[in-house]
Amino acid sequence: MNASEVAAAAGAQISEESQQHVYDPPAALAKDAHVKSMAEYAKMYRASIDDPETFFGDMARQFHWETPFVSVGPKYNFNMNDGKIFIDWFQGGKTNICYNALDKHVLEGHGDEVAILWEGNEPSEDAKYTYSEVLAMVKKFANVLKAKGVKKGDTVTLYMPMVMELAVACLACARLGAIHSVVFGGFSPEAIRGRMHDAKALDAALELGAGDFSVSSVIVFKRLDGSCPMVDGRDTWWNDEMSKADSECDCEWVDSEHPLFMLYTSGSTGKPKGIVHSTAGYMIGSHATFKYTFDYKPGEIYWCTADIGWITGHSYIVYGPLLARATTVMFEGVPTYPDAGRCWAIVEKHKVNQFYTAPTAVRALMKSGDAYVEKYDKSSLRILGSVGEPINPEAWRWYYTVVGESRCPIVDTYWQTETGSFMITPLPGATPLKPGSATLPFFGVQPVVLDDKGNELEGEASGFLAIKKPWPSASRSCYGDHDRFESVYYSMFKGYYVSGDGCRRDADGYFWITGRVDDVINVSGHRMGTAEVESALVLHPSCSEAAVVGMPHEIKGAGIYCYVVLKDGAEADDDLVKSLKAIVRKEIGPIATPDAIQFTEGLPKTRSGKIMRRILRKLAENPGIELSELGDTSTLADPGVVASLKEGAMKVA
Ligand code: WTA
Repeated sequence: MNASEVAAAAGAQISEESQQHVYDPPAALAKDAHVKSMAEYAKMYRASIDDPETFFGDMARQFHWETPFVSVGPKYNFNMNDGKIFIDWFQGGKTNICYNALDKHVLEGHGDEVAILWEGNEPSEDAKYTYSEVLAMVKKFANVLKAKGVKKGDTVTLYMPMVMELAVACLACARLGAIHSVVFGGFSPEAIRGRMHDAKALDAALELGAGDFSVSSVIVFKRLDGSCPMVDGRDTWWNDEMSKADSECDCEWVDSEHPLFMLYTSGSTGKPKGIVHSTAGYMIGSHATFKYTFDYKPGEIYWCTADIGWITGHSYIVYGPLLARATTVMFEGVPTYPDAGRCWAIVEKHKVNQFYTAPTAVRALMKSGDAYVEKYDKSSLRILGSVGEPINPEAWRWYYTVVGESRCPIVDTYWQTETGSFMITPLPGATPLKPGSATLPFFGVQPVVLDDKGNELEGEASGFLAIKKPWPSASRSCYGDHDRFESVYYSMFKGYYVSGDGCRRDADGYFWITGRVDDVINVSGHRMGTAEVESALVLHPSCSEAAVVGMPHEIKGAGIYCYVVLKDGAEADDDLVKSLKAIVRKEIGPIATPDAIQFTEGLPKTRSGKIMRRILRKLAENPGIELSELGDTSTLADPGVVASLKEGAMKVA
């Protein structure tokens, strides 16, 4: 998309009405909030930009440093180090994030407070773990890893469902200075193999089958009864290992910039990339955003429904909350089991104060009707959160009035795997809300709106959302491929981090994210690269070529629409549709299952062979569109293909 298309998309999404209806922070909440007014926000924001040394230095000094840092802010902006992107914060310091998330609280006398409140898939199953208990488990598991030969700088792949042992495993890695690489439990074995291979991981938490690289140890956690084939000499049981492990394990002190974890995410081209996060900058970023955006105060019960396999789970189930001495709920199940009232049953049962979920879940629950929500006592709720995609005003209002009983501000948090923590977000005691807008930047974040040429636009404007200066939790690299990191995020417009999202800034300076402007589709708030889906489809023996675009989807926000060109002799029938879907599930996982498949004779290509995706997107979005509304098609090698694509799209719809 170019900037004017971004602008058109923005204009289409924001109604006058939603811009004008502003929801002010409830006075009762603002009174005791960490940030109590817009004036206070503005003052803190200015301080964070004008004097990051003091602002972030003071924040960082709340943590334990084995060796204090000598300076705070990054040495270089995004274009200053000989053209290389080099981001560093808290130079000279040594610390450990596991120590700050657990040991520090226990040493300060809070060991008996609940750290993790685990809620199982079955409503009858739950468990509470205090800070002391979690620390004891982490120390033991760190010893288990050590005994397997894991040391500082090694990579450990974790492939586990939402059991609290996953959080323990992450923290144990951090304790040793090992780099964790969590792979979402819903990815297929093929997808895991690729990620492990790329990460050169030493250990994995689950059996994978033969790979083309060597896994020396696998530790298996037994969650349910059922058989699990174990390989002699390689695989061992979590519980056996833990029962033998020593209970004392010192922290490994690491440099501020020591990598804490990598997390694979989809981009517009190629294979998913391992986004690398640092220790200290990430620690300060995840903690500060958690504390201020959820207005968290120790003693409160906080629940984020994400999976730890995604960045949201890393920053806002594990690290941010534990650093803030929170009680964090970890939910194993889905919002619709045993019925659509499950979330509110959990809110009532655990007296949840902050509830954080994705618009796709809000829309699905909204469809199930208000009765499920009204049945439960939700008076404990103070703040609601949204993440993953723009929340449509209709879902926003339902969330606000029915779930939040018109009492709880909604923090619509805009950020990415790459940003590590919130970039644009309201603060609940300060920011007047506009449904559908992520509102204003967090401390230390300088967002800009750029036009096609990379010029910064002033005032009300639409264009590419970019960031001007390094913020503490910015990702530092792509694992094993710094060139790719630089070319994907920093080469489009020199001197800026380019987010891949389009946005509009309104007259009040509020940001409205309009969605991805690259070939990434946001399916239920999960990022899918169209290239990944295409690569999976062409593995099918009948598929000669494929082009994948997003399509509007009522619940998921975006669905996956595939244009498939068949090889000669292949039969375009229902069985083929099924087997094409199956191959995508096998290669990537169920989240990537195509929503629509259209067989076509050809794809709209320019004379130089480039697929004109704009046409495919428009047809997937609206098969009834007039050909004249598809824009200029004169550069196509065969303009006739458009009419037949439209005809095909009408049939699929
Ligand atoms: C989208 C998830 C609008 C956006 C934390 C971004 C959002 C991508 C919002 C990152 C929001 C996330 N409003 N869009 N509040 N939050 N996005 O890396 O397109 O899985 O680029 O991180 O999700 O997805 P990721």
